Amino acid sequence: MSTNVNIDWSKLGFAYSKTDLRYISIWKNGKWDDGKLVKDNNLSISEASTSLHYGQQCFEGLKAYRTKDGSIQLFRPLENAKRLRNSCSRVLIPEISDEKFLDACLQVVKANEAFVAPYGTGATLYLRPYVIGIGDNLGVGPAPEFLFGLFCCPVGAYFKSGLSPVNFMTSDEYDRAAPFGTGDVKVGGNYAASLLAHEHAASKGFADCIYLDPATHTKIEEVGAANFFGITKDNVFVTPKSPSILPSITKKSLIYIAKEYLKMDVQERDVPIDSLSDFKETGACGTAAVITPIGGIEHKGKLHVFHSETEVGPVTRKLYDTLYGIQFGDVLAPEGWIVKVK
Ligand code: PLP
Ligand code: COI
Repeated sequence: MSTNVNIDWSKLGFAYSKTDLRYISIWKNGKWDDGKLVKDNNLSISEASTSLHYGQQCFEGLKAYRTKDGSIQLFRPLENAKRLRNSCSRVLIPEISDEKFLDACLQVVKANEAFVAPYGTGATLYLRPYVIGIGDNLGVGPAPEFLFGLFCCPVGAYFKSGLSPVNFMTSDEYDRAAPFGTGDVKVGGNYAASLLAHEHAASKGFADCIYLDPATHTKIEEVGAANFFGITKDNVFVTPKSPSILPSITKKSLIYIAKEYLKMDVQERDVPIDSLSDFKETGACGTAAVITPIGGIEHKGKLHVFHSETEVGPVTRKLYDTLYGIQFGDVLAPEGWIVKVK
């Protein structure tokens, strides 16, 4: 164990807190160094870093879970490694191998074991890998050097705690991504583009906004920093398909769970915003959001309520219980989904 921590696990939200050690590796002269754990949570980088001016950076998010027997496990970390590679190649950052990515995750979790919440509290250890362009550079072009970092924070719910529905509104004024832009990779620019839309939705009392397809504004794409899913009245699991959506690992897992565990039909297809009445339940899914039931969606000033604004629907609950059970080790996971830390 590292530090003795005194955390009220039940009160954790999704917020930064400094943990003991973080991982840093530098790319220079054409290769990554071995990387090391450091105490300092501040970076000292050139004022001319491409990550600061031209957004040459990308990141990931995954979690470590404490199981009933006290061990710690990661959920599908190699999927995050693969997505980080896609993000890196889209913004001309040298790739990070699966081995290097996993090694960074394992080192950071082991070094901060005391921050992994006890089983049963619902809290987890969120891991934030990131890669940024550093070094002196002025013209628009890739950086001469890069930094791969990974830190962790104990976290609770991203939206409301528990399986409580929240409401969202569609964003008509702002898109998070362009049709052939960077919506399908995890780069900071997508999130910078979402800040104003989020603030607008929050000021009207909504948890976040729903982004529509940037070309026509007629189809659902993302729910804030999470993917969308819906359960039709005839029990089909539906989730949008589009080149400007971030391919969520939680969504990919729910597709598998819906098919293989719950024996549901699954469709990845367009979800027209004027087809909300086809759905009996809808939700947002992601690492931070886990599964957050959507109470209602406001579109063009009209609120459409699904199952309920206060109660989770039965299918969403089954999806949640299965996913949560797999993540915390209570439900048998498909092969390769779980990587044991210790
Ligand atoms: N969509 C966006 C824009 C996100 O930021 C995230 C979070 O990573 C997701 C979807 C969900 O992806 P995942 O389930 O891999 O965390
Ligand atoms: C995640 O779910 O891991 C995310 O990255 C969402 C985040 C931007 C808060």
